[in-house]
Amino acid sequence: MTKPKLLNVGIDLGTSRSVIACDNGMRMFLPSYVGFPKDRVSQKMLGKEVVFGEETLKHRMSLEFYRPIEAGVLKHSDDPDKDPEGYRKTVEVARTLLAHLVEQATAEEEGDVVIRGVIGAPALASRKNKKALLDISKGIFETVMIASEPFCVAYGLGHLSNALVIDIGAGTVDLCRMHGTVPDEADQITTFKAGDTIDQVFYELITKKYPEAGLTVNMVKRFKEENATVSDHGDAIFINLPVNGKPEMLNVTEELREACREIVPHIVAGIKKLVATYDPEFQNELKNKVILAGGGSQIIGLAKEIEDFMNAALGSGRVTRIEEPLYAGANGALMLAKDMPEEYWYELSEA
Ligand SMILES: Nc1ncnc2c1ncn2[C@@H]1O[C@H](COP(=O)(O)OP(=O)(O)OP(=O)(O)O)[C@@H](O)[C@H]1O
Ligand SMILES: [Mg+2]
Repeated sequence: MTKPKLLNVGIDLGTSRSVIACDNGMRMFLPSYVGFPKDRVSQKMLGKEVVFGEETLKHRMSLEFYRPIEAGVLKHSDDPDKDPEGYRKTVEVARTLLAHLVEQATAEEEGDVVIRGVIGAPALASRKNKKALLDISKGIFETVMIASEPFCVAYGLGHLSNALVIDIGAGTVDLCRMHGTVPDEADQITTFKAGDTIDQVFYELITKKYPEAGLTVNMVKRFKEENATVSDHGDAIFINLPVNGKPEMLNVTEELREACREIVPHIVAGIKKLVATYDPEFQNELKNKVILAGGGSQIIGLAKEIEDFMNAALGSGRVTRIEEPLYAGANGALMLAKDMPEEYWYELSEA
């Protein structure tokens, strides 16, 4: 009998996007949306029982629509007892999403495979949040490890010491200070003002300025992803929206900038705290290696804005953004999966 092949996978289950990187070279992502046809008619139209990612948005009207991850963690997992049915459903939906990702990444594999996965979680995820991730992994992974998301990013990039990684996601911004060992609680800060907050504020500001315009948060999110900036320079920004049914170009330059700036003070407060409580001998090095990751790192002018603040408040600062914000978390998780010894792994069959 041949031994089953061992496959490592790194998973970044994000509020907005879920990403997988596998050591067979496959990697892919999809928006973290799952939909189930509402009735027989929608099922016939769609020709399947479950729909994932972008496709759910196209068929939103005919689907029971789920976004199982909220503020970086499984919905209801802060307190599963408060809404047991809601929690049960979330676990089922999230497991379906995870299974789909893993299936896609391993579809070409032949013969027996044993899969072990490292899943990223927000820096300050609670024990219950992590337990929920173990729950969804059962039946999919043989063994699993939960690691802090910004730590995965730092590990993947090889920034193991005197570096400050800031992962700007949809639900959370996670800051993590690296000092040559596995970071602990004191090294990490999570704030909940992230991409989703920008979308909400942007939506409200547009609605206030143009009360007659027709728009949804999803529409402004897409627009933001193409135009996001905190810079005072640059061209005026116009969005094409229906006003009383007729498309019009509306100037939203100020509104978009203001919405994007909404997250900056919270990031800055986090940097200040992590620098001030760091070993004074290495504070300068830390300040000179601030790394922006996550989808929000692509906001134009953000690195410069944070640098300006650091120069004013902390004397110096150098902020860069990573090249591959989409895959950095999953790649780092995959590298951890390959490198970590036995004792770090959780046997799902024991649970
Ligand atoms: N070019 C861009 N400019 C600004 N924001 C962007 C851009 N591209 C993506 N985003 C935003 O980044 C966020 C998604 O980033 P990412 O995939 O890192 O988050 P996530 O991992 O799903 O969320 P979390 O880590 O909070 O669970 C969304 O809010 C998205 O709108
Ligand atoms: Mg993320």
